[in-house]
Amino acid sequence: MSASLGCWNIADLSYKARARLPRGVWEYLERGVEDETGMDRNRSALDALTFVPRVARNVERIDLSAKLLGERSALPFAIGPTGASGMIHYNGDIALARAARSADIPFTISSASTLDLEQIVAEAGRVWFQLYLWENRELSFEVVRRAQDAGCDTLFVTLDLPVPPNREYLMRNGFGIPFKPNRQNVVDVLTHPRWLCGVIGQYLLREGKFPQQANLPRELRQSISKGGKPGAQFKQDNLDWVGLAELRAMWRGKMVLKGILHPGDALLAADRGMDGVIVSNHGGRALDHSVAAIDALPAVLDAAGDRLEVWFDSGVRRGSDVAKALALGAQGVLIGRATLYGLAAGGEAGVARAIALLSQELRRTMAYLGANSVADLDRSVFGPAHLLP
Ligand SMILES: Cc1cc2nc3c(=O)[nH]c(=O)nc-3n(C[C@H](O)[C@H](O)[C@H](O)COP(=O)(O)O)c2cc1C
Repeated sequence: MSASLGCWNIADLSYKARARLPRGVWEYLERGVEDETGMDRNRSALDALTFVPRVARNVERIDLSAKLLGERSALPFAIGPTGASGMIHYNGDIALARAARSADIPFTISSASTLDLEQIVAEAGRVWFQLYLWENRELSFEVVRRAQDAGCDTLFVTLDLPVPPNREYLMRNGFGIPFKPNRQNVVDVLTHPRWLCGVIGQYLLREGKFPQQANLPRELRQSISKGGKPGAQFKQDNLDWVGLAELRAMWRGKMVLKGILHPGDALLAADRGMDGVIVSNHGGRALDHSVAAIDALPAVLDAAGDRLEVWFDSGVRRGSDVAKALALGAQGVLIGRATLYGLAAGGEAGVARAIALLSQELRRTMAYLGANSVADLDRSVFGPAHLLP
C-alpha cells in the first residue's frame, strides 16, 4: 500500500479505523458523552463558519510554519493528548510521537498513556505533558517532576473533567484499562483478529500482560505490583486555583490550561501566571450540551488579550477547520481523533497520513483565501464586517 493508505481524507482514515477496531475500542475512540450533543455541535459550528475567498494574490509559496508556545513548528498544529492510544495500536504513543517528530510538530503525552513517559520522550521530537491529578496531590507532583526531568517543556493541565465523564458505552462494552475480558467483549475481540493479534497479542507476547496505565505515581505502582487493584483513578474534584498556583510554582516551563470555554476562566488563568489556555470541550467527551469550542473561542481571545496564548481543539477533521480557528485568532490547534483514526488505520504511517492530509488541506484553503502565511489568516477571511462570526 502506498503512503496514501488508500485514504484521501480524515473520514477515509476513520472508516478504516472503524473496520479494524473492536466495537468497544472504536466507541472509546469515537464517541462523546450522554446524548453527544456537544460533539455534534462542534461540527455544526465549524461548518457554519463560511469563507469569502480572495483572488490574484500570488500564493505560489505558502509558509505553514508557526510559533507554538515559544518555538517554531513546521505546522500550526500539534498532536493533542489522547489516553489509551496503546489500545488502538501496539505502543500507539510511540507511533504518534514518531510521526509528529517526522512532521516537525509537537506531541503531547497523556497522563493516561499506557507507556512510561520517558519511553515516549525518547522517540519524540518536541514533547509536552498533559496532567490529570491523582487523589494525593504530592503523588501527582512526583509525575509532574518526572515529566520535567524527562524533557517535556510544557505542562497542560486538563480541567474540563472535574469528575469522571458519563461514558455509558464504556460500561456497556466492558472495555477499560486494564482490559477485563467478559463474554461480550471477548466475542467483539474474536471477530477482529487483526486487532487481537496486532495489538493485544503483541502485548501478551512481548510483555506478558495487557496494557495498563503507565504513568502512575510510584506508590500506586508499587501497590499494584504487590497485587493491589490496578486502574487507579484520577481525582480532581477538589482542584481549585490554589492547587493550580502550586503547580505553577513547581513547573519551570510553560503551563497551559486545557478545557477553557468561559472568558472569566481565561482572565483567572492570566492573573495566575499561566502561559496559555486551550479552548476545548474535550471533543464533546466531557460535559454534554456544552458550547461548541469554536463558538467559545472569540470571547476567550478577547479576554486573554496578549496575556495568554490561546489554542483551539474539538471537531477538527479538515485543514479548513484549522484555518478557521487560526483566522479567529487561535495561535495553534490540537488534533485529537483525526490522528487517532490514522493510528488505527496504519500505525505511524497512518498518523503521518493524517498530518499530511490536514496540512495539504490547510495549504489549499490558504491559497483560496489569498493567505501566504498563517499570520495572514485573520477575521477578514470570513468576509466584510456584516458576515463576521
Ligand atoms: C480517545 C481519546 C482520548 C483522549 N484522552 C485525553 C487525555 O488523556 N487527556 C486530555 O487532556 N484529553 C484527552 N482527549 C481529548 C483530546 O485531547 C482533545 O481535546 C479532543 O480529542 C479534541 O476533539 P477532536 O477529537 O474532535 O479533535 C482524548 C480524546 C480522545 C478522542
